Amino acid sequence: MKLLKDKIVKDGKVLSNQVLKVDSFLNHQIDPPLMQAVGEEFATRFKDAGITKILTIESSGIAPSMMAGLILGVPVIFARKRKSLTLVDHLYTASVHSFTKNETNDISVSKDFITAQDTVLLIDDFLANGQAVLGLLDIIEQAGAKLAGVGIVIEKGFQPGGALIRERGIRVESLANIASLENGQVTFIEEETS
Ligand code: G4P
Ligand code: NA
Ligand code: NA
Repeated sequence: MKLLKDKIVKDGKVLSNQVLKVDSFLNHQIDPPLMQAVGEEFATRFKDAGITKILTIESSGIAPSMMAGLILGVPVIFARKRKSLTLVDHLYTASVHSFTKNETNDISVSKDFITAQDTVLLIDDFLANGQAVLGLLDIIEQAGAKLAGVGIVIEKGFQPGGALIRERGIRVESLANIASLENGQVTFIEEETS
């Protein structure tokens, strides 16, 4: 997605060979017209998938998911990172390990909002090691829902998450896929749908 890649090149900050900072339009300040375009792109790519719900994870997945949900006309659910103190038996929960932070946390979603009747599109801001997506897949499985695929705003193609998810036969659509952050430069992998 050219608009997004241009924005990454212009306003993204390469912090290291591994980390791209996008605080000015995605992770802290949010650019609504860019998020609208991102939502439109996800909606176009998944328009024939019969999606009934979008599932993401707080906090940075919410903005792009909200825009896609608006355009597809479906509700958006965000997995919470802290277990609610009440109604724990009424939650789907999964463990998500962060290699970056070297910690494992539970995420949870109320059983009220995803059921076996749903066809779910997963959306997240970054795909790095893929652990957040694996946790969300676990929750969809627990619900007995159908998975339409995974929509990612920025994939870091040099990290293992994308391969981990695709090798399960899951459709992953990344709007920008980064090949390398070396020498302070962002280079992209040519867009391909899978
Ligand atoms: P994984 O789910 O792919 O395994 O991700 P990982 O543990 O490596 O990353 C943990 C957090 O860091 C996630 O956000 C993820 O979106 C984010 N992240 C990973 N790589 C980058 C990067 O290069 N740049 C930026 N800006 N973020 C990255 P989170 O902790 O869930 O936070 P948030 O959703 O509340 O923002
Ligand atoms: Na995230
Ligand atoms: Na993040």
